[in-house]
Formats: sequence, structure tokens, C-alpha cells
Amino acid sequence: VRTVRAISPLRQIVRAWRTAGRRIGFVPTMGALHEGHLSLVRRARRENDEVVVSVFVNPTQFGPTEDLTRYPRPFARDAALCRKAGVSALFSPDPPELYSAEYQTWVTVDTLSVPLCGRFRPGHFRGVATVVLKLLNIVQPDRVYFGEKDFQQLRVVQQMVKDLNVPVDVVACPTVREPSGLALSSRNLALSMEERLAAPLVRRALREAGQVLKSRRNVAQAKRAARTVLRKIPGGRIQYVDIVDPVSLGPPSRATGPYLLATAVYVGRTRLIDNLRVG
Ligand code: PAF
Repeated sequence: VRTVRAISPLRQIVRAWRTAGRRIGFVPTMGALHEGHLSLVRRARRENDEVVVSVFVNPTQFGPTEDLTRYPRPFARDAALCRKAGVSALFSPDPPELYSAEYQTWVTVDTLSVPLCGRFRPGHFRGVATVVLKLLNIVQPDRVYFGEKDFQQLRVVQQMVKDLNVPVDVVACPTVREPSGLALSSRNLALSMEERLAAPLVRRALREAGQVLKSRRNVAQAKRAARTVLRKIPGGRIQYVDIVDPVSLGPPSRATGPYLLATAVYVGRTRLIDNLRVG
């Protein structure tokens, strides 16, 4: 794997690949790679000739009180995992390479950025959409891979790619989970032993709510069922539990679904999110 820190050498590599007719798959990440990321890399390898992984903890998607400085950065380990996984190039710029002092251009995906996590993280999806478009312009992949765990992020990126005619296929990949049901996340590294034991309740809450929804078609009851389970997390704090339409992320369009059940919960100081689609 070639580690590249700057845009111009990466552009040279990409230009050579494209001239040779090589298909490029791209997996954007913030590092602290886990099996979820690696499942995206494996899929990208199957479907393309070359795979680029970016590791960049994007400052513009963190709010002023969020965990930017606490975010784990085990770069040597990430590079070793990329090497083992057969990644062709690892792009890991420092923030000034992507955001100069006079940086002033932003991508806002209006409606999809507002509900769910958007309510509690103003500016977050603007930061995500902006950095993803920048990375797509730099890497120029044929396909880009996103996990469904960050479902709203996936929808925001899909909409941006459509609206701005970005020539890339967005490939959505299923969430990878521990046997306990806990969705893999780089933030799991920050959980204490006790918190980690309680964290699978996040998934269980969504599943119980999903059962209520399937049997009774009652959104309010389903949300209450999720909250009852989430309240069992010691030191937990529910940020939101919501049930929306999986395409518009607005109110479910029909009583029969489909539905997206989504939640964000603080377990101690660590914010975990998860979602479940029903119907
Ligand atoms: O999902 C992530 O890790 C980040 O939001 C992404 C897509 C790499 C943009 O910084």
C-alpha cells in the first residue's frame, strides 16, 4: 500500500490508473479501522481493480463541543490493516491540505440534513457532504462505499451525488455487528468495559421497537418500547429515538411502512448511533 499525504501525488497515481483503464473503488474513513470498514474494502476490491482508502478525521464535521480531539487516531495500525487488505493507496492528508486558511466553499444538502442527527449536530452533514465531494474530486473513483450504520450520512451523500451530477456509483453496505448485536464503530474504542457490556441494548431497543411496529403499526408505541429498553443502560442518555421514511427521512409516508428506526444514545461520554429498517 502506498501512503500518500498530499493531493498532487495522489492525482498522479489516479491519472496513471485511469489511463490504463483501471476501475477505482474508494472507501472514505476517519481511521480507527474496524471490521466494518474492512468489509467495505473487501467489497471494493471485488468490484474494482484498485482501491483507495482515505483516513482523515475531518474537522469540519465536528461541532465545537464534540469529540474531535478525543477521536482515536491509530495510524500505524490502520496502515497495517490496509496493507493486509490489499489496498492500493492510503490517502491521509493533514487538515491544511484540504482546508486552506481562506477556505470558504460548502455543500449543503437541505432537507435530508435536518432531522435525526442533524437536529443535534448543526453543521455536521454540511461538513460531511463538503469533505466527501472534495475527496471524490481528488480520488475520482468509479465507486464509493458507505456503511448503512450511518444511514443519514449515506442518504445525504446519495442526494448530493445525484443533485450535483457527480460521476460515481454510491454503494451502500450492511452494518457489521459484534455477536452481541453492537454495531461496529470507531467510537466503541472509547467505551469502558462496563459501558461496552450495556451498549448492545441500543440494538435491542431498535429490534423491540421494530417488533411493536410490525405487530401494531403504532409509531408512538414503538418509540416508547425503544426508550424503555434504552433506559436500562447505566449512565446512558437518550438523545433521540425516531421513526421516519427511509428515503425522505421525513414522517413515514404510509401506515404500512417502510420505516427507518434510528437512535442516538450517549453511553457515558460516548455517543452511539444505530438504525433498523422495517418493511
Ligand atoms: O463516516 C465517516 O467516517 C465520515 O463521516 C466520512 C464519510 C469519512 C467523511 O469524513
